[in-house]
Amino acid sequence: MEKYYITTPIYYPSGKFHIGTAYTTILADTTKRYKKLRGYDAYFLTGLDEHGQKIETVAKENGKTPQEHVDFMAEKTIELWKRMNIQYDDFIRTTEPRHEKIVQEIFDRLMNQGDIYMGEYEGWYCMPCETYFTETQLVDGKCPDCGREVKKMKEESYFFNMKKYQKRLEEFYEKNPDFIEPISRKNELFNNFIKPGIEDLCVSRTSFDWGIKVKANPKHVIYVWLDALTNYITALGYLSEDDSKFKKYWPADLQIVGKDIIRFHGIYWPIFLMALDLPIPKKIYAHGFISIRDGKMSKSKGNIIYPEQMIDRYGLDATKYYLLREFPFDQDMTVTPENFVNRYNGDLANDLGNLLNRTIGMINKYFEGTVDTSNIKETEFDEVLKKLALQKAKEAEECLDNLHYSNALEKIWQIVSASNKYIDDTKPWVLFKSEDEQDKRLLASVMANLVENLRIVAVLLQPFMEETSNKIFAQLNIDLRDWDSSHEYIANRGTIKVGKDVEPLFVRLEVEKELEYLENIIKGKK
Ligand code: MSP
Repeated sequence: MEKYYITTPIYYPSGKFHIGTAYTTILADTTKRYKKLRGYDAYFLTGLDEHGQKIETVAKENGKTPQEHVDFMAEKTIELWKRMNIQYDDFIRTTEPRHEKIVQEIFDRLMNQGDIYMGEYEGWYCMPCETYFTETQLVDGKCPDCGREVKKMKEESYFFNMKKYQKRLEEFYEKNPDFIEPISRKNELFNNFIKPGIEDLCVSRTSFDWGIKVKANPKHVIYVWLDALTNYITALGYLSEDDSKFKKYWPADLQIVGKDIIRFHGIYWPIFLMALDLPIPKKIYAHGFISIRDGKMSKSKGNIIYPEQMIDRYGLDATKYYLLREFPFDQDMTVTPENFVNRYNGDLANDLGNLLNRTIGMINKYFEGTVDTSNIKETEFDEVLKKLALQKAKEAEECLDNLHYSNALEKIWQIVSASNKYIDDTKPWVLFKSEDEQDKRLLASVMANLVENLRIVAVLLQPFMEETSNKIFAQLNIDLRDWDSSHEYIANRGTIKVGKDVEPLFVRLEVEKELEYLENIIKGKK
């Protein structure tokens, strides 16, 4: 079985995760499910980035030790991923001995081989981002990443000799044009940060304590990004007694990150790996940012949505559908209550929900729940419908292969729309009233095709909406769900016996009421 190793960034447990942070994990989870369906040995790693000054500060604010704080947050995070049915295979915390020990070894090794040297650092430090900036990098004298105040600081520090790897990194980018996607972000990174020359990186701190100590000089704490990035290999057992997973899964096939941390993953990470003589990940996908109507989500602005607030009210599948459907591959996404309610009522309740309802309802009404397809007669619309379903299934698969999840869902919904139109075209209620025996055979064909289209939709929805997909299979009373079966059209499947009770997949939302609910959660009133 071919392996597929996929990672999310490890999150800072400094506060509660909003839908933006949850999105990275949803993407990785969707990919894991899809790859599994395609027969890969898919392995998905996520976890927490528990060191650094920010964590130390937040813990203090909460009257906790850093360890107490991260323990509490780890529990909450695992609870959230459970609630979201995230199918990760490992959850690494950077405070675990399996990680800390290896990070120290890696640091030692890099120091011994001359990649890390001792120097003195002076620069502008952004505490929330835990990053030093040079004078020219500042924007209006503030942090170029988060826009907050920076402080001039000086400390004796270890440095990583990035300059030594400049040429190798450039060559790597040239030889691997698909290393970073989307291409627009790759170009930005390459032209603005790599081409002008990579500066050596300060990789230790003495100004705080909460981190992994440099073994040979414990006054120094290892820079949180050097610590954090290596999680992708320490979790697999790199340099440990049992490194079988490392041997099997490294290099990563896909590392999903948000655009704000592409610099770390696209420059420092490959260079660290080069220094360790390890292969570079095959692909890094940097998605855009979610903001809510009037800008970037933030607690202080009072425009934030937490995943639980959506899931509790609208269900996991609707929440995931909305985010995955609305988020373009290479851009940012703006969440608006109107947009969510439209998608819910339009795509989920009307288009998909009604299609299933109508189909099951008609089969119960016209055939008492059981259609014999052995003697069906095709209508003039059948050929086109079948072709379209198979074509769109293929296209959806191509989109999934390219991480174009929004487009994949769009293709799936084209099958749904075509099926609804097919009902209008074939007018089953007219065929039912006809006394002609031929019309009964046509009617059976219409029902069989609707069932088959819904089955194909359910197969394709598996990576995105497990519960919805399961409900469709259950109501159709069919269990042919392996991925390749979305490429075959089996209208003639003997006897179809659908469920008696029609349970709506998505109940239509009352627009005004839900807009108000969403406005309230955004403003923090719920
Ligand atoms: N700890 C680092 C990652 C270290 S990986 C070696 C980190 N953590 S984070 O908690 O701040 O972010 C976690 C993920 O959420 C990142 O992929 C980040 O880009 C993403 N997002 C944070 N806010 C977001 C939005 N508003 N929208 C979309 N993604 C967002 O960075």
